[in-house]
Amino acid sequence: DKAGHRHFMAKEIAEQPSRLTSALSFYLSDDGAIRLPEPGIDFTGVDRLTMVACGTASYACHVAKYWFEQLAGLPVDIDVASEFRYREPPLAARTTALFVSQSGETADTLAALRYCRGKADRILCVVNVAESSIARESDLALPILAGPEIGVASTKAFSCQLLVLGVLALEAARQRGRLDGAAYAEQVESLRALPGLVNHALSISDEAARIATRLAEARDVLFLGRGRMFPLALEGALKLKEISYIHAEAYASGELKHGPIALVDKSVPVIVMAPHDELFDKTVSNMQEVMARGGRVLLITDRAGAAAASHGVWETLVMPDVADLWAPILYAVPAQLLAYHTAMAKGTDVDQPRNLAKSVTVE
Ligand code: F6R
Repeated sequence: DKAGHRHFMAKEIAEQPSRLTSALSFYLSDDGAIRLPEPGIDFTGVDRLTMVACGTASYACHVAKYWFEQLAGLPVDIDVASEFRYREPPLAARTTALFVSQSGETADTLAALRYCRGKADRILCVVNVAESSIARESDLALPILAGPEIGVASTKAFSCQLLVLGVLALEAARQRGRLDGAAYAEQVESLRALPGLVNHALSISDEAARIATRLAEARDVLFLGRGRMFPLALEGALKLKEISYIHAEAYASGELKHGPIALVDKSVPVIVMAPHDELFDKTVSNMQEVMARGGRVLLITDRAGAAAASHGVWETLVMPDVADLWAPILYAVPAQLLAYHTAMAKGTDVDQPRNLAKSVTVE
């Protein structure tokens, strides 16, 4: 049931405010305390977190790495499951392994989990399907409560994975004494603001559709982001290529001049994801290098970012203001909407892209 939408993907993008609200009410009590399913997680005994996933779920891990490291001072290793399992990496003492999967059935992720059995202190998972193999075989399963995701391209599962990982990072920071009560309460409040902000961000859909008619003419698209926004650039590129079949690549903004800038000319749209945060000026200087070479820049930013840096850019999408830390959750929305509308403009099968399956249970 598409609930009046043309595609499951559109429905699932639109559902994000209510799905995020469900996840928040599961993990936060009224007094603002974080509640984890029993028996909870003791982060004071963890020296290292090893995160393993595939595709979009692995990009959620990459965002979470910034959160765990910056907020909780907890070192994080990440690998895609198909590399991790065959590399057979040694796990350091006091390592907790964390697997992220929408379906809970991805073959490589499940095999990586089984490899960690007996090697990691503890096996956690962040899953959407609670009755899945990955959930069953973990010591503790943390549900993302996104509801069934039918569209092959993951949308609401990604934002809900991010939310749950953000909650975990906050809890880790609190337990490890890295956040005082006021700072913790402030971050909890900013998490609570997300459903409303995501709802507001959905209103850029018409503008994204207008821009998408131009993106649909491109053969290649580059995405750039720095820090927490780099994984969002990766996610934007993956979404675009999987449903519109346009070749898209993402780079950390600072890597541009180490090679990819050679690709830039006026036929390659460059999508820059940059809220006005502590790294904004650095990203803008990379953006100016693109424009100086004739590149057409689509800047996705907030009001302050647009006021500071819209000059000379091809298009600007203005997002609501959001706490710096949680911006990746909000900026998932324009990444999804641009891919969706570009696919619509090209007439591709959005919910059932060629060659792809929703659940990859073969290796
Ligand atoms: C992309 C997408 C895939 C999945 C990946 C992992 O839109 O949906 O990249 O994220 O196949 O699937 P799960 O999360 O079910 O393990």
